[in-house]
Amino acid sequence: MNRLAGKVALVTGAGRGIGAAIARAFAAEGAAVVLAELDGATAVATAREIANGCEGARTLAVQTDVTQSASLRAAVEEAQRAFGPVDVLVNNAGINVFADPLTMTDDDWRRCFAVDLDGVWNGCRAVLPGMVERRAGSIINIASTHAFQIIPGCFPYPVAKHGVIGLTRALGIEYAPKNVRVNAIAPGYIETQLTHDWWNAQPDPEAARKATLELPPMKRIGRPEEVAMTAVFLASDEAPFINASCITIDGGRTALHHE
Ligand SMILES: NC(=O)c1ccc[n+]([C@@H]2O[C@H](COP(=O)([O-])OP(=O)(O)OC[C@H]3O[C@@H](n4cnc5c(N)ncnc54)[C@H](O)[C@@H]3O)[C@@H](O)[C@H]2O)c1
Repeated sequence: MNRLAGKVALVTGAGRGIGAAIARAFAAEGAAVVLAELDGATAVATAREIANGCEGARTLAVQTDVTQSASLRAAVEEAQRAFGPVDVLVNNAGINVFADPLTMTDDDWRRCFAVDLDGVWNGCRAVLPGMVERRAGSIINIASTHAFQIIPGCFPYPVAKHGVIGLTRALGIEYAPKNVRVNAIAPGYIETQLTHDWWNAQPDPEAARKATLELPPMKRIGRPEEVAMTAVFLASDEAPFINASCITIDGGRTALHHE
C-alpha cells in the first residue's frame, strides 16, 4: 500500500480492461488517478467504482480521444487542475485491427495507427514538457507481444506495436538526462473484452478460446491485474534505473520455440 502516495497518474483507455485494472491498482497504492477514456460513460462508472471500493481514493473521469493531441492536452490540464502535475502517464488505449494486408482498406490502416501509435505519441507529447521541467516522470506504454512476433492475418496491429517499442526506446533515451523514464509493457493474451470479442469473431468461438488457453506454457492466459502489478512497479520509485525498456508479461510464451 502507498507505493504511489503523492503521485498523480493519468491512464488512457481506463474505462475497462487492462486500463481499468491499472487505474484501480494505482488508486489502491495511493495515487490520484485520471481515467482518460473515449467512452465517457465507462470512464465515469469505473472512476466511481474505484472511489467506492477504495477508501480515500481520488479519481477523475475525463472523456478523451487519444487520436486527438488537443484532447490529450486538455486531459492533462484537467488532471493538473484537479490534482496537480501528472507524474505518471500510462498510454494504454489501443484497438485491434486485424486484416489481410492487400484487402485491408486505407481507413483500417489509418484507424490502427491513429489509436495504437499516434495515441501513444499524443500522450507523451502532452506530459513531457511538464515532466522535463520538473525533472521527474514515468511514462508506461502498453505494447504487446505482437511488438516482437507476428501472427499471420493480424496486420497492421503488430506494425503499430513495433512502433510503440521504437517510440519507448527513442523517448527513453532523449529524456533520460532529464530523469524522465519511458518504458513499455508487452502483455501476451490477457482476458479482457478485447479478447472475448476476438474469440467471438472466430467461426468456432469456444474452440478458439480453448486453443488460446493451450498456447502459453502455463496453460492459461493472463489477468488484467497481472499487468497492473507491473505498471505499479514501473510507476513507483522502486524502478528508478529502469528506462527505455520493455517488460513482457506472457507466462513465458514468447520464450517458447515450440513444444
Ligand atoms: N487483451 C490482450 O490480450 C492484450 C494483449 C496485448 C496488448 N494489449 C493492449 O493492452 C491495451 C488495453 O487492451 P484491453 O484488452 O484492455 O482492451 P479493451 O478494448 O478492453 O480496452 C481498451 C479501452 O481503450 C478505449 N479506447 C479505444 N480507443 C480509444 C481512444 N481513441 N481514446 C481513448 N480511449 C480509447 C476503449 O474505449 C476501451 O475502454 C491495448 O493497447 C491493447 O493493444 C491487450
